[in-house]
Amino acid sequence: MNSNPELKAVVIQGGMGVGVSRYPLTRAVSLAGEKLGVPIMGTLSGTGIGPVVARILQNGDPGGHYQRAFEAFPNQKMAEHVWNTYYIEGGKAADKSYKPTPMVNFVLGQNVAELIICANFAEVWLGKQDHNRPIAINYLEKIQTPHLPELYGAMLAGVDVVIMGAGIPDQVPGVLDKFSRGQPASYLIDVDGKRLPENAMIFNPSVYTHVTQLKRPDFYAIVASNVLAKVLKVRQKNIGGVNGFIVENSKAGGHNAPPREKNQFNKRGEPVYGPKDEVNLKELANLNVPFWLAGAYADPQKIAEAIVAGASGIQAGSIFALCEESGLRDDLKRSIIKLAFEGKLDVISDPRCSPSGFPFNVVQLSDTISDPKVYGARLRICDIGYLRQAYRENDEGGVRFHCPAEPVKTYTKRGGRIEDTEGRVCLCNNLFAAAGLGQIRNGELEPAIVTLGHDWGFIRYLITNGNGRYTAENAITYLFGNQALKAAV
Ligand SMILES: Cc1cc2nc3c(=O)[nH]c(=O)nc-3n(C[C@H](O)[C@H](O)[C@H](O)COP(=O)(O)O)c2cc1C
Repeated sequence: MNSNPELKAVVIQGGMGVGVSRYPLTRAVSLAGEKLGVPIMGTLSGTGIGPVVARILQNGDPGGHYQRAFEAFPNQKMAEHVWNTYYIEGGKAADKSYKPTPMVNFVLGQNVAELIICANFAEVWLGKQDHNRPIAINYLEKIQTPHLPELYGAMLAGVDVVIMGAGIPDQVPGVLDKFSRGQPASYLIDVDGKRLPENAMIFNPSVYTHVTQLKRPDFYAIVASNVLAKVLKVRQKNIGGVNGFIVENSKAGGHNAPPREKNQFNKRGEPVYGPKDEVNLKELANLNVPFWLAGAYADPQKIAEAIVAGASGIQAGSIFALCEESGLRDDLKRSIIKLAFEGKLDVISDPRCSPSGFPFNVVQLSDTISDPKVYGARLRICDIGYLRQAYRENDEGGVRFHCPAEPVKTYTKRGGRIEDTEGRVCLCNNLFAAAGLGQIRNGELEPAIVTLGHDWGFIRYLITNGNGRYTAENAITYLFGNQALKAAV
């Protein structure tokens, strides 16, 4: 095991995609942690970071930050190629569309691999500037096709921890081990829901750089059950291993694991979670792997309780999604903070909207996709493609992809069932819009979708009126400013 005791954070600022926990947030968290002398770790979101960086470069790389990171990349020819493909001096005109980025297919294209490697490298490199705190990067297991170049890019910049959930991330420790030795690695993707040896994506680091040794980051798996934690621990016995668990409940922002009892919904159409969905913390502690609790824990008292229950601490997302340094579009942040302060905020756990099939928490906000009028008016299109699912047309055919949020006709022509298209949202395009990187189509900006957890009790401790703003440092001061917590830590 390669567990690094120095990485023991009490609070982990959770990874938030798409583009919500980018380097400005993670860096602010790390700097505030150092200044206040408190054990907190920032997490970047690596989800979709290739197309995110491609769009930032088309905005002219405001501040020149990515330019510095690209200049630090170990293969300058490759970095220049990616840079020249997307960078627009002064930024594109506001009414012009972003150039499309190539989709990630079963056979990894060189151009898309280079973009993903450079973007993950740049984000981690920037996240690590000006402080000595470890930082993590988060990915969703379900978005499998970009994982190899993503992990490699993040490791090239020395990421300290990889955090992954939304699926069974049992292949990741082995990949981290191989890349740390400069060796090629493979990743089995689910095709028609099955993981078979013939569906392995392959990645050879030596095609991209001459680096032969890299630090092996720690690996934390996000779990919602004792069974998954046990499976991950047992399967990883002889390789690099799982170094931590994030135990995420259904109150956490973003995607949640579906409940054990299927087809049970409340009056609002939300999936119902019951006692079977609760993780037994005593049993979990017996695995002797450190764990953190996530989902409505952004409260100093609750952090103290988590520690008393055997956890190393907690992971919090929503409190950081609404702070000044997060990548959430400012107008959306302002509206949500105001609604939360006035006690009028509503978040629905939507079992249908995510093409991944996992429940997704959606802030109910006018002019966003949660508004049925906005949803109905949007023309379906799939041009980012991160949530596509792999299938084979027949035994001899190659691996193809389809997304239940793409145009209905296209999806059914590609073998999808019409009933699977109902209520689906293009999380790719709509989350990019929420991060201020929305595509312009026919002169109109793509609508946004915003996710948040089900607890925002922290807001009244951080601001004094609905127009208030707060920083990551304010949030951290609040989280660590309790006597009970001081005693527990
Ligand atoms: C805006 C937002 C986006 C999120 N995106 C991701 C993600 O991409 N991957 C992930 O594993 N968790 C994601 N999460 C979950 C957080 O990392 C964290 O576990 C969760 O927010 C904790 O619950 P809390 O929101 O009550 O603090 C997201 C949460 C929020 C609020």
